[in-house]
Amino acid sequence: MIKVLFVCLGNICRSPMAQFVFKQMVEDRGLSDQFEIDSAATEGYNEMCHAGIHYGTRDILTAMQVPFEEHYSRRIRPRDYAYYDYILAMDDSNIEYIQSIVGVDTDNKIHRLLDFANKPRNIKDPWYTGNFDETYWDIVEGCDAFLKYLKL
Ligand code: 4NP
Repeated sequence: MIKVLFVCLGNICRSPMAQFVFKQMVEDRGLSDQFEIDSAATEGYNEMCHAGIHYGTRDILTAMQVPFEEHYSRRIRPRDYAYYDYILAMDDSNIEYIQSIVGVDTDNKIHRLLDFANKPRNIKDPWYTGNFDETYWDIVEGCDAFLKYLKL
């Protein structure tokens, strides 16, 4: 079982998008039994507000026919580091924040999602850009590249 935790700042836009895009890719390849997939935030405010998935993420997932369930923001916890095999962040600032919560990445589990792509880069935050389409295609690219990295 490969356990993957996608992480962003709020866990309402990018990381739940990645969670459900990756879940669908894995299902399409008949690999669901091999993965456990979830997502989390670095900040705690959306967990405190019991925030669900942002409407922009819901809309693009619906438009792209990617199934999703309800997901409520939760903050990453120190014990997630031991539990998950891959902690996949959206940008550099997520990585710094994750490390401040879980400690030093001794097992090399923490990566940016697009570090697996041909052009490693951050995934911009649509909370600020308003561009959920761009985020979606970056996430598809990253998830696809991650599966190739796993040789699956
Ligand atoms: P995300 O976007 O990290 O992609 O989920 C954000 C969502 C909420 C906030 C910031 C970024 N916020 O400030 O509440």
